[in-house]
Amino acid sequence: MSRRLLVAGNWKMHGSMQFVKEMMAELNSSLPAKINYDVAVFPVYIHLYDVITNKPDHVKCGAQNLSEYDDGAVTGEVSAKMLADLGCDMVLVGHSERRIRSNEGNEEVAKKFAQALKYGLTPILCVGESLVQRQSGATQTAVWQQIQAVLDLVGIEKLGQGVIAYEPVWAIGTGESASAEQAQEVHQFIRSQLVLNDDTIARRIRILYGGSCKGSNAYELFSMPDVDGGLIGGASLTAQDFMAICQQADKLSQGV
Ligand code: PGA
Repeated sequence: MSRRLLVAGNWKMHGSMQFVKEMMAELNSSLPAKINYDVAVFPVYIHLYDVITNKPDHVKCGAQNLSEYDDGAVTGEVSAKMLADLGCDMVLVGHSERRIRSNEGNEEVAKKFAQALKYGLTPILCVGESLVQRQSGATQTAVWQQIQAVLDLVGIEKLGQGVIAYEPVWAIGTGESASAEQAQEVHQFIRSQLVLNDDTIARRIRILYGGSCKGSNAYELFSMPDVDGGLIGGASLTAQDFMAICQQADKLSQGV
């Protein structure tokens, strides 16, 4: 089964109104109208509307987080319903920076994943091991626990409506990417576990790689059989770097 590559730019807590203006101008002028892969960007909440109204139609837009609740007395949070109302397509769930800095546990992440689907947003479930876990041989256990929590809450059908992003914590923002082989090993493991639940869904679900992905390593990473694109942090912050990754996805999507 061939899966469409997805290049997703996670801007994290970067940007300004001017930055959005420039990035949207670049995407509108540089990204061809017809592409055989998908592109998405994830700005901070307050820049979402600006991105949604100025992006090319075929670029998706998503938030970096959402509340696990529909609405109510939850000061400072934003619900899936509001994001959908605004015109978001996607949302990141359980990014390691939120798991670590905001103590988001597996159950909370699973609830957020369910909320996203409830309002028609595509959740990108971020999973990944720490350096200590990798060094102690606990990578598979750590990654699978994070996915299992979502599976337990929503089931395989609904998990299959989302996207998974494998992001080894030790590779995020460090400049030190996992090798293509290291990424493939984990992606293949995830897919093989999902096969035990549902073969078709396991083959259909996209698994992105994230962690110091850039123009120079994107081709090698995305050409791995179980790597279906990337969740890009640092290299999504300039149009030139982001487009360099898109160009690699373009080549692969045309079989070059
Ligand atoms: P990075 O971040 O590309 O800067 O390593 C990736 C991510 O956290 O999504």
